[in-house]
Amino acid sequence: MKVKRSKYAHAFPSEFGLVLFNSLTMEVFDGNRLEMSLWEHLETPGEVDPGRPEAKALLDSQLLVPSDLEEGTKVLRRLSQLRRESQSNRDARIGYLRISLTERCNLACSYCFAGASSGVALPQMSQGCFGRVFEWFIGENLGNSPAIQYFGGEPTLEFELIRFGNEMLRTARENGRIDNFSQMVVTNGTLLDCEACHFLVDNDIVVTCSIDGWKEINDHNRVFLNGAGSFDATLRGIENYRKAGGLLRCLVTVTPKNVLLLPDIVRYLIFELSAAEVGVNAPQPTPDGWEVDGGLLACAVQQAWLFCNENGVCFHAPGTHIVSLLNSRTPQTDRCFDLELGRSGPNFGAYVSASGKLSFCTVWHNDTRCTEDRLTSIREYPRIIQWHYPYNEDEECDTCVAGQLCGGPCSLEMMLNGGRLNRDRCRFFRAMVPWVLQR
Ligand SMILES: C[S@@+](CC[C@H](N)C(=O)[O-])C[C@H]1O[C@@H](n2cnc3c(N)ncnc32)[C@H](O)[C@@H]1O
Ligand code: SF4
Ligand code: SF4
Repeated sequence: MKVKRSKYAHAFPSEFGLVLFNSLTMEVFDGNRLEMSLWEHLETPGEVDPGRPEAKALLDSQLLVPSDLEEGTKVLRRLSQLRRESQSNRDARIGYLRISLTERCNLACSYCFAGASSGVALPQMSQGCFGRVFEWFIGENLGNSPAIQYFGGEPTLEFELIRFGNEMLRTARENGRIDNFSQMVVTNGTLLDCEACHFLVDNDIVVTCSIDGWKEINDHNRVFLNGAGSFDATLRGIENYRKAGGLLRCLVTVTPKNVLLLPDIVRYLIFELSAAEVGVNAPQPTPDGWEVDGGLLACAVQQAWLFCNENGVCFHAPGTHIVSLLNSRTPQTDRCFDLELGRSGPNFGAYVSASGKLSFCTVWHNDTRCTEDRLTSIREYPRIIQWHYPYNEDEECDTCVAGQLCGGPCSLEMMLNGGRLNRDRCRFFRAMVPWVLQR
């Protein structure tokens, strides 16, 4: 029988020989010596005896296919089929809400995509608007367990709204409208006094504190309006939170200047600040890619990830979701993140700005291409679902090792760069997927 390597077969050296990966079936294959030597022998199409176990194993895994087989664009077709099914799923909901309590901030970080700085007349959310948004969000999630992220600007500037939201969610749970809920606040930590910290800990509101490492590196970008570094004030907030019984979860922002320091930053956060969890923000998209080089980010994330694993610290960064997708062989059909991974109806994230506008994108919110003025049921917003499942015809993605794992190019990236692939995303995922597979 004449066979060839499937166009969806990818091989990478590993400690034990070769790891083979079928990017269509998402199956990972650790071959024995005979299978490896057959694989290497078949760099160009050749004859094999399908009765021999090593040939049968590679044929069964569709890593080898008949040489005359037309493989078409099966990954693209599979993804578009799954996306069509998700689009017509009547149980789709917005189960995760990032709500900006204020666009204002007491800091003026150099890289801030939110463009926050106090003093300027940026919008703050009124209590009336907040109540309407929460009422809508609870209504979207009847019988479910919605998740809220208080965001900004600096959300702790509007701490009363956090108390109000907590009360509304508790009442909704007591009344049986929702099953449960989770809350998180992303903060620069500088305003966290003892009383606020006790409230957050007592109410299970998870605090994620943005900090970019030791004083010098953090204060390079994270500064008050007068240019003074915020490190000392953030550390005081962290201490108050810890004294109240909170576990430190840090969120690092990488820039072209600090990206290669990420492993040292993570080491510092774990050893010096006893961080229990470390996260890395996804770089902001630009018309040319990401604000940070995708290849450098992949190197930095890999080292930081290994270090966290060795020290038993939970690590979240772009690319860490690859493991659960591979383990469950679930394609990333949603271009952003579907919290249920399509299992019980798509569950989307959305963003509400301080002026009450709904954005389907959790990053971009001042653009009519991804926002709606009204808050009603997701079922009345086909644009939301379309945003998450655009059709992708780029054949480069069909045979890419990350074809069903990268989720890209995301709608925002496509919108910003005229539909082209985001080269930083590609560099990043093409480095990350083999690295994960080799482990
Ligand atoms: C916009 S801030 C709002 C919450 C709060 N003020 C804080 O700093 O945590 C949320 C997160 O976005 C991060 N961020 C801001 N600008 C960014 C950028 N250009 N690229 C990636 N992350 C960024 C911040 O460092 C922070 O971790
Ligand atoms: S503290 Fe947060 S919102 Fe404020 S400027 Fe820095 S990153 Fe932006
Ligand atoms: S890494 Fe690039 S080429 Fe590969 S699937 Fe993602 S967007 Fe497509």
